[in-house]
Amino acid sequence: MSRVNTTGHFGQFGGQYVAETLIPALLELESAYAAAQTDPEFAADLERLLTDYVGRPTPLYHAKRLSLDVDVEVWLKREDLCHTGAHKINNTVGQVLLAKRMGKKRVIAETGAGQHGVATATACALLDIPCEVYMGAEDVRRQAPNVLRMELLGATVHPVHAGSCTLKDAMNEALRDWVSNVQNTYYCVGSTAGPHPYPMMVRDFQQVIGQEVRRQLGDHHVGLPDAVIACVGGGSNAMGIFHEFLNDREVVLIGVEAAGEGLETQRHAAPLNAGQIGVLHGAKSYVLQSDDGQIREAHSISAGLDYPGVGPEHAYLKDSGRAHYVAVDDQEALQAFGWVSSREGILPALESSHAIAYLRRIKHEFPDVGRVVVNLSGRGDKDLATVQQRLSRS
Ligand SMILES: Cc1ncc(COP(=O)(O)O)c(C=O)c1O
Repeated sequence: MSRVNTTGHFGQFGGQYVAETLIPALLELESAYAAAQTDPEFAADLERLLTDYVGRPTPLYHAKRLSLDVDVEVWLKREDLCHTGAHKINNTVGQVLLAKRMGKKRVIAETGAGQHGVATATACALLDIPCEVYMGAEDVRRQAPNVLRMELLGATVHPVHAGSCTLKDAMNEALRDWVSNVQNTYYCVGSTAGPHPYPMMVRDFQQVIGQEVRRQLGDHHVGLPDAVIACVGGGSNAMGIFHEFLNDREVVLIGVEAAGEGLETQRHAAPLNAGQIGVLHGAKSYVLQSDDGQIREAHSISAGLDYPGVGPEHAYLKDSGRAHYVAVDDQEALQAFGWVSSREGILPALESSHAIAYLRRIKHEFPDVGRVVVNLSGRGDKDLATVQQRLSRS
């Protein structure tokens, strides 16, 4: 049901709302990706890297103590155990392989939490191609360890001092660079956002997550989950786990956005819950915007969710009613961070903490749910400074 059509639309969402200079590059990318998809050598290279380098399959772990706390059978999909600490690497290994195949001489990327930047720098180091990463100055401050990691990996990090100095502004800069250097440059987008074919391609590179979950539940002699939960920034870890279950109508799909300081405060990052239909970074979707159509700043305690837009496939799943989108605020996410750390010995990323926090509410909002898989999209080491700062303030 989710297949994108030939014009890159999921229903009314998606498309290619970009400067004319980028259209040939997007067409080139679309045909290169289509050719790679039918090439057994590309599939074999990707499979080998995902297994030997990324560390797939990641475990599916039955979190017994969390289960006891919420009276629901909770399974955690451990994307935090991927090389570099988050699901982002699944996508960058795929896209950088594609960049090499297309003969590009340089890769650029944008990053929020820094995980996509680290993952791109890693794939570029591995596959020997120069890498430059745009990152909002505020995120450079919040995610300093990831900046150092990118630099050690050989990438150049460009701090962006525009707008809210976060992910949206970094993506603007990356698109500007791409327009000027489109002949030799590959733009490695980090989420299921941006113009077609990125939302489809990034989802395809992430769908291994859901495919493994289905297989692993089988290995544990457990049936389908009643619900699958994932946090939603641009939407890649959520699409990666949802996609496999789209046709299993009995599986409830729940995306968790960042309510920040509260949906009513406008200091949030929840376009599916409290945004309007608009265009951002080349795609039509739900976005945070003012009455006169200007993009509004987003806010979340987690840099990876701090984005005023969302991937178009999620907009489509929301409007078609196939997936539900809820929102968890900064405080609930912080509490979940401490809860999972002390109960299960796992420090979750603040992004993933939003998905986990929703477990506290699920029984109330979906009383029939008995077994649930939560996508633990990344590890929390990168967030320790933020958590420490917030805890010392409270
Ligand atoms: C660990 C982690 N989870 C989730 C996200 C949100 O991105 P997406 O919605 O594309 O999965 C990020 C983004 O940086 C991240 O680092």
